[in-house]
Amino acid sequence: MERTLSIIKPDGVQRGLIGEVIQHLEKNGLKIIAAKMIHMTGREAEGFYDVHREKPFFSSLTAFMTSGPCVVMVLEGENAISRYRDLMGATNYKEAAEGTIRREFATDIEKNVVHGSDALETAVFEIGYFFSQLEIVL
Ligand code: CMP
Repeated sequence: MERTLSIIKPDGVQRGLIGEVIQHLEKNGLKIIAAKMIHMTGREAEGFYDVHREKPFFSSLTAFMTSGPCVVMVLEGENAISRYRDLMGATNYKEAAEGTIRREFATDIEKNVVHGSDALETAVFEIGYFFSQLEIVL
């Protein structure tokens, strides 16, 4: 069993895609073991995306991620990290496979509806960034 962090980004929430995304997850055997709605501050978004601090898109990304509420969730399942990444599709929706969340709903490389952890280490950091032990159901 593995855990991963999922974010439905401000574009997904604003466009009413929470239900569609959750349906994709649940239909594909990923169990939601924690969930909440948050509206990140600049500092919170910068801390979360610290690995991208030097990237040219960093300030635009943090502005976007603070532009409205997000839904953050912890997903659990066998190979949850790679399975959720497969469901999301490539970061650039133009390269995402048919039937993936980003191919279906993303409008832009930045406004790509969802985020998912990319490795075990990142998942541990990202889950701990938003959730305490007490908020995760066992
Ligand atoms: P995410 O999986 O949340 O990780 C970093 C985010 O930066 C990515 O999704 C996109 O929303 C955003 N982003 C914007 N431009 C780029 C880019 N050129 N390459 C990768 N990510 C980008």
